[in-house]
Amino acid sequence: MQAVDLYDSSTFERAIPHEYFEWLRVHEPVHWQDARPISALGTEMLQAEQRGYWAVSRYKDIVEISLDQARFSSERGTVLNNDLPEDRIAQLRLWMINQDAPRHTKLRKLVNKGFTKRIVEQMDLHIRELSKGIVDRVARKGQCDFVVDIASELPLLVIAELVGCPVEDRAKLFAWSNQMVGFEDPDFANEENATGAMMEMLEYASYLAKLRRDDPREDLTSVLVNAEVDGEKLDDLTFNMFFILLILAGNETTRNAISGGMLALSEHPDQRAKLAGDPSLLTPATEEILRYVSPVISMRRTATQDTEIGGQKIRENEKVVMFYPSANRDPEIFENPDAFDITRDPNVHLAFGWGPHFCLGANLARGEIRGIFAELLRRFPDIEVTGPVRRLRSSTVNSIKSMEVSFTPEP
Ligand code: HEM
Repeated sequence: MQAVDLYDSSTFERAIPHEYFEWLRVHEPVHWQDARPISALGTEMLQAEQRGYWAVSRYKDIVEISLDQARFSSERGTVLNNDLPEDRIAQLRLWMINQDAPRHTKLRKLVNKGFTKRIVEQMDLHIRELSKGIVDRVARKGQCDFVVDIASELPLLVIAELVGCPVEDRAKLFAWSNQMVGFEDPDFANEENATGAMMEMLEYASYLAKLRRDDPREDLTSVLVNAEVDGEKLDDLTFNMFFILLILAGNETTRNAISGGMLALSEHPDQRAKLAGDPSLLTPATEEILRYVSPVISMRRTATQDTEIGGQKIRENEKVVMFYPSANRDPEIFENPDAFDITRDPNVHLAFGWGPHFCLGANLARGEIRGIFAELLRRFPDIEVTGPVRRLRSSTVNSIKSMEVSFTPEP
């Protein structure tokens, strides 16, 4: 098997290298991946000296790593695959995704207060209306760019509503979010843009927090700026950073799940017809979309001690990168893993991670995927991909930038 460079984000721009992962799971489940020279990465946001990492491809090893923060830290060096300068690491550690217990436990407890069942259920009802509005806008065209017109719209509207962002500010959130996540892709990238977007978002978060402190509403920002754990409130900077994490984590990922789900349904018209004919399959279909697409490609941990995983010795401070698309096609766990089967049961995939950092927005994202496909397939059971699929250059998110779809228009 010809080695594939997992460090190179253009690898994932072409496609997820499923065949290579299949080979790795059997022959080198914990595989050493060399770094690329900094000049090839073309970025100054990273440390000049980049290190290679251990690429982990088996389901059970990824679960073991995710459950053991004491050995595999999210806080040392962050969850990003690249090595970053110390001052950036310090800044990114304000995000709970880059923290370990006990700091993470406390912050997670606090923000969980904003993600109560009630808030998510209320949003779920609203997702149906939002989905209808989005689909209405393209219904007579018979054709659209699925990513721009449909998949990016819903997560943005949902997150913006959830945090209580006024309607007129929503386009700004979308642009900032694109600029920050796509920094490896020439269509969006440019470090000044990414840093500028982060500064503007921080300022915006401060503004919104003040607005809601003075005049609380029924939204997440109002809950969070007033919530307390052990007598402590979120300080301003932590709230502002959390706000950015929510926008990033909530937008790009769900957008990818929806676009990737559309592509999978289009490539499997039998499954699309089954789902269109039986909406009670929306729940298992959503899980299968998440498994099959794996909208997040990888998350990293750093070894806190000399240890071992999957029979491979790992030294303290070495990076360990978990590849979710590979875990989600591990035949030890999933029967016929490369098949897209919307009735798959059981389907305990790792698309949302596992353990203490399990995705905070999982139920919200599930509601969005169900909501948009319920509306789309009810009205356009023949919707299919008819144009080229342009993918994002990123080794973190499995993202489609544009994809034309066609369907029988409404009169
Ligand atoms: C299909 C959509 C989504 C996918 C595939 C996804 C995936 C993930 C994954 C894999 C992690 C674990 C990271 C780790 O273990 O290091 C995670 C964490 C997280 N996600 Fe999501 N996510 C999605 C949607 C969302 C949404 C809609 C939100 C917010 C509204 C959100 C907020 C977060 C946050 C805040 C964390 C960090 C949790 C922690 O550190 O305790 N995600 N997500």
